[in-house]
Parts: sequence; structure tokens; C-alpha cells
Amino acid sequence: MQGRKVCASCLLSWMRSRRFSSSQTDCCESEEECRIFIGILFFFLDPPIICGYDFLMTFTFPEKLKLAQLPTSIQKMERLTARWGGPALYIKRDDLTGMAVSGNKVRKLEFSAAKALREDCTVLITCGGGQSNHARATAAVAAKLGLRCHLVLSGDPQQAQQGNLFLDRLLGAEITFLPEASLEDFEDAMAELAEEYASQGEKALVIPLGASDATGTLGYAWSVKEMVGQFAAMQWTPDHIVVACGSGGTLAGLLLGQEMFGLSSRIWGINVRADAVYFQETAVKIYEDFAREYGYAAHVQASDVHILDGYVGAGYAISGPAEMAVICEAAREEAILLDTAYTGKAFYGLSQEIHKGRFQKDESVLFLHTGGLFGMFPHADSFEPKIFQAG
Ligand SMILES: Cc1ncc(COP(=O)(O)O)c(C=O)c1O
Repeated sequence: MQGRKVCASCLLSWMRSRRFSSSQTDCCESEEECRIFIGILFFFLDPPIICGYDFLMTFTFPEKLKLAQLPTSIQKMERLTARWGGPALYIKRDDLTGMAVSGNKVRKLEFSAAKALREDCTVLITCGGGQSNHARATAAVAAKLGLRCHLVLSGDPQQAQQGNLFLDRLLGAEITFLPEASLEDFEDAMAELAEEYASQGEKALVIPLGASDATGTLGYAWSVKEMVGQFAAMQWTPDHIVVACGSGGTLAGLLLGQEMFGLSSRIWGINVRADAVYFQETAVKIYEDFAREYGYAAHVQASDVHILDGYVGAGYAISGPAEMAVICEAAREEAILLDTAYTGKAFYGLSQEIHKGRFQKDESVLFLHTGGLFGMFPHADSFEPKIFQAG
């Protein structure tokens, strides 16, 4: 990103506190009030000195549902900080957002499901792997809202009824299996289903993979407002924030929120599939769609999307001994439960980056725990006894 980006509400906050956004606590309370203040400021001061015209932003978030338990807490990981010798490690517990333990997905779905209700939809359709956390979270949200849910999942219909797949069924979702599905196959199958529902007089909202579209991304843009408030109360802002990247919407949302709410931390994604270029292109595509759908042109560019590549390992959702050892370490040192597909891999990546000296010892790093626990149970037997018993 070039230069500082200041939104109308940050300006209001600054005028109240005489400090800039990392100290703001009351951003976006009253847009009207904001506009009046800005009008006065622009009258008396030279605007480019304040913020530059092109950085002025007055984005009004669309309505969202309140499904998550927010704010999620920020905790210091004292024991791992000491064990790894710094930087200071913190964790934001988005694994505890609630809604049937739905992790990061519930923040996205608060916006996606609100859109479904605004558009009088009766069915939520989405897709993913057999152990998709997002699919299961969508099933939970649909159940809570009294909507139907239809999932298009990859894999064998006869696969073991475990983890998320078991919960999908428990939550009442209908499931269509595609033996081997590309992104296109998923999209085609979901579009066909939506037509089928329409022919039965129902209206479906198709939510793409991971809810990583213009609407779902709003969930993580909005989470930055929460974080900025928490950091202000703690009188501390982490130097770095690290998050797992699967379909890219969480990271894209965080970067959008950083621009909107003026967060100073450096945000890093650790990809658990695909590569850095994929996530840069995905973010840019989401922002283009976002500009079309919500009329806000983000300043974030592909080069602002920082990915710590190199931790996909043996492949998506496959964890090897090294990742499993770090998952055990987090459990035994901090009682933090990571999963084998997303958070365990990202946390392993974080540990490696620390050992390589990516972060200064006197800096602080906040790991955003995005949930995913249920997806780990089908892999319990692959935890190598050597690691499991090592302690
Ligand atoms: C537990 C968990 N963490 C992280 C992610 C990555 O989020 P995103 O798909 O928004 O990149 C996902 C989903 O893909 C997930 O299920």
C-alpha cells in the first residue's frame, strides 16, 4: 500500500483522541457526524496535509447478522515465547467464535447469510472438500436461521462419516458428492442446483469456496475494527499478524480492513495450498468484485499481499511429522488445539520463520487462530506414535 490511508471514521476518532487509528476505539459510530467534521476540516485546512483526497474513505458496511461470539480474546503465549526465544507470541482466538465451533468462517458468513436473508433466499448452497470447515459452518448457520443447506463436496459418497462430514449430516445439510472436483466443477454443480431449487419455487444463495468473495471478505475487514479497538485497550499493537490461507478471503479481508481502519501491523499469510501468486491474484479479484458490488475501490495491490510460501509440504490437508510435532508442542505448551490442514501448517510455518530470523526478538507476532478442529479427527491415526509419545 502506498502511504497512509485514513477513513472518515478514523479521522473522527483522531479528532477525539488526537491520536491516529491504532488508538481509535470508536470508529464508525456515526458516519453523519464524521462527514460534518470532515467538511469543517476541509474548509479550514489544506486537505492533502491531512490525508490526501484519494485516501479519504467513507465505506458503510452492509448489515451483518450477529452469529459469532465477539470479540474473540487475545492471549499471550508465554510458554512458547520462552521456548522459542522470542519474538513475543500472541494468539487471537477466532477458533472460539462459536456457532458450532465454526472458527473464521462464521465472521464471513455473518455477511453472506445477511445477504441471503436480504434477498429472500431459502437455501444456502456451498462447496468444499469432504472435511470442509466452511461447508460445515454454512450448514450450522443455515440450521440456526431455518434455511435449507445444500453442500457440494468432493470425494467418495462412501467416505467415512467422520469429523466435519458427520457434522454436516447432523446439522441437516443435503449433500451432493463429486468424485473429483475442480473449482469449475464445483461452480457448475452449484449453479445447476440453484436452478433446480428455483424450479421448485425456492431461492438459493450460492456461496463460493470458503465464502472468499466480495461479501464474505467483509467479515475479516470488519474484524480489523475489533482488533484495533482491542489493541487500543491493551496499549499495544503487534508488529506482525500471521494467518493461514486456504481460499484467500480471510487474508484479503484483513488487508482491506487494514486499509479501512488504519492498522499498522504487517500482515502475513501462510499458504496451506496453491502458491503466493494464487493468493495475490485472488485478493485482487476479490477487490475488483468488491468495487463492483459495494462501490469501494481498495488501494491494496498484489504486491501488498505478503505470503510466506513454502509450507504446503506434502500437499493440501496432509501434515507430516514436522507439522505434527508443532501441533503437539502447541497443545502441550499452551493448550492450543491446531488442525492438520490449516492452523497446524501455518503455525509450523510461523515456527520455521522464527527460527530463520524473519522476526526480531523484541518484536511481537499475533497468530490468528482460524479454527478447524473437527477436520483433525479423521487424521488422528496418522499422528506418528514417535511424535505423539515424545512430549
Ligand atoms: C480452519 C481454517 N483456517 C483457515 C482457513 C483459510 O481461510 P481462507 O479460506 O479464507 O483463506 C480455512 C478455510 O479455508 C479454515 O477452514
